[in-house]
Amino acid sequence: MKIQYPKGMQDILPSQIGMWQALESLCRDISARYGYKEIRTPILEKTELFVRGVGEGTDIVGKEMYSFVDQGNEALTMRPELTAGVARAVLQHSLMELSGTQRLWYYGPLFRHERPQAGRYRQFYQYGVELLGSPYPESDVEVIQLAYDLLCGLGLTEFSLKINTLGNAHSRQAYRDALTAYLTPLSDKLSEESRKRLAKNPLRILDSKDAGDKELLRDVPRFGDFLDEESRSYFDAVQQLLAALGISFFISDKLVRGLDYYSHTVFEFSTTKLGAQDALCGGGRYDGLFTQLGSHKPVPGVGFAAGVERLLLLLAEEQLSITQEHLPDFYLISLGDEARVVVQKLARELRKAGTVVLTDLRRRALKAQMKEADKLQARTVVIVGEEECNAGIVRVRNMATGEQSECPVETAASHLLSL
Ligand code: HAM
Repeated sequence: MKIQYPKGMQDILPSQIGMWQALESLCRDISARYGYKEIRTPILEKTELFVRGVGEGTDIVGKEMYSFVDQGNEALTMRPELTAGVARAVLQHSLMELSGTQRLWYYGPLFRHERPQAGRYRQFYQYGVELLGSPYPESDVEVIQLAYDLLCGLGLTEFSLKINTLGNAHSRQAYRDALTAYLTPLSDKLSEESRKRLAKNPLRILDSKDAGDKELLRDVPRFGDFLDEESRSYFDAVQQLLAALGISFFISDKLVRGLDYYSHTVFEFSTTKLGAQDALCGGGRYDGLFTQLGSHKPVPGVGFAAGVERLLLLLAEEQLSITQEHLPDFYLISLGDEARVVVQKLARELRKAGTVVLTDLRRRALKAQMKEADKLQARTVVIVGEEECNAGIVRVRNMATGEQSECPVETAASHLLSL
């Protein structure tokens, strides 16, 4: 049997790469417009980074990590997300000391051992940003705005923005206690998954997909009632700014997100067009992460990450194309040994001038080469055979009009470039 890729992973084939590249280039442009600089961190990190950063009670750390002990007895993990790695790098290189505000973006593959389904993979790509150094709501809104601009820049319309607040540590603790007290007597009725979460991560029960859990959660205490003054006014300010910018949103008090590091604002852009895997992009504020990772000083941070495959699926669903094809400017046909030399030299000159040039490398007959030029949608075809070599010319065919002309071989490059 032929070997296939591992379950939940995919190849990105040449026919698909155009849209991947176009999307990455849009991410790059938008990041630059907001003054964000790219950061690249290793795909492997020490396992401890995610245990401490993302949190032991999370699904990611509890059951989805690709972890192993290497030959040097080091416990390593293939990164399941990038925020912890970026924070680690910022601390390791003292970047906050170089500049009190860090605006960073990243793009790359991540690994989570989840059950694969449409829109959910074991290797997937994220584009994301992290804004470090500001504890103020305008920075939450800056990153939300950036995500919004990305989605709009792609031409997408079928999405909406959900926001919520997890408050400061004090409000969160008060709510966690109330939630645990409310759910503990009902624990027999909770799904197995939620029962496990009750002890470790009760907030996650709020976004359970189980129908029975949903019923039990109907009259659950509301987070809003446990927010203190600071948490409430922070969230109000985020909403006011979003409204001032004309970014529509709705508040979802069940949005808690799957990672432990969040405080205050959390948000998700989701779509109804992709079935169960509806989250396009998620993020929030994480003021406690750096101290969790051993920083002496707290570093306020906020960011998001978007799932690249899901953006591409939604583009297809909305019948939008972002691909910029590099169609050949010239297809050079050669017939015979002498012509092949002429064509290789001409191709070199034309490529040096920045045009896209293809030649036949299978020494096929004129008809087959012509057919390929047509298939590749070459703009201009140049024909050099024995007869042309003897006459010191090349033949030029405009593929759109079918018009044919000839020009001396010495001036062929400049003539072709002037077309
Ligand atoms: P996350 O919600 O785990 O957040 O992932 C962000 C996005 O990655 C999701 O909204 C989804 O589009 C995509 N994604 C996640 N898992 C998969 C999967 N198995 N297959 C395909 N796509 C997937 C984070 O990772 C946080 N680090 C985001 C963040 C940055 N928060 C603050 N800064």
